[in-house]
Amino acid sequence: VRLKYYFKGLKRMSKYIDTHAHIYSEYYDDIPWLVKLITDMGVEKVINAGCDTKSNKEVLDLSKEYDALYCAIGIHPENVDDYTKEDLDYVEKHLNDHKVVAIGEIGLDYHYTKENKEKQIELFEYQLALAEKYHLPVVVHSRDATEDTINSLKKYKVTGVIHSFSGSLETANIYIKMGFALGINGVITFKNSKLKEVIAKIPLEKLVLETDSPYLSPEPKRGKTNDSTSVLIIAEFLANLYEFTPEIIGEKTTENALRIFDKLS
Ligand code: NI
Repeated sequence: VRLKYYFKGLKRMSKYIDTHAHIYSEYYDDIPWLVKLITDMGVEKVINAGCDTKSNKEVLDLSKEYDALYCAIGIHPENVDDYTKEDLDYVEKHLNDHKVVAIGEIGLDYHYTKENKEKQIELFEYQLALAEKYHLPVVVHSRDATEDTINSLKKYKVTGVIHSFSGSLETANIYIKMGFALGINGVITFKNSKLKEVIAKIPLEKLVLETDSPYLSPEPKRGKTNDSTSVLIIAEFLANLYEFTPEIIGEKTTENALRIFDKLS
């Protein structure tokens, strides 16, 4: 009941931005319905992030079809073993499209293996160089690779968002000092997560809302298919943490997202 009350109020008063989702037909069989739901709930804009050429194409096409959908394109580290030069050329060719607001999802992921780390760094830095060249922000995926991520980012004049941030306060402050904002999603609501204690010490100006949908549903939907309306739940969670209202969280994080991603406005 309480959530419904907020949802009603939010719909009228606030506009939200989901800065990271994966809206692909592979995950959602009724995208027109989904986009209507999202916008009806007050989520005005979504940055739909690609991972490879297939999804980069799809997020580009969807951005042309729906006003609310923008996109980030890039090659995700999970594709490090099978991407080609053509995949990178495809990304570069579309960076000036007017709804491509960032290069992403790019980064380093040593969770399953570190064996290909040189190749991952090469792929990541190639795209950081593109971001610098085209003056675009980056959406960074970093998993079990904090030190190398920071080292790579330091070599380029880039800013953007550290997607799904879940590190220590010390790491948070390093990223913030470098000009990055932290992307906060359902992970902060997880029962065993210590992230809330870290984020409570970070100024709201440094945060953006995201979902990583269809993954990372917040409690109590953890494990189920996520969607962009969950930014309202994250906003409510942050509202309790910061002792603000969800409306203020929405307003501020929207301002932050518009500041970081120029081409969103
Ligand atoms: Ni993602």
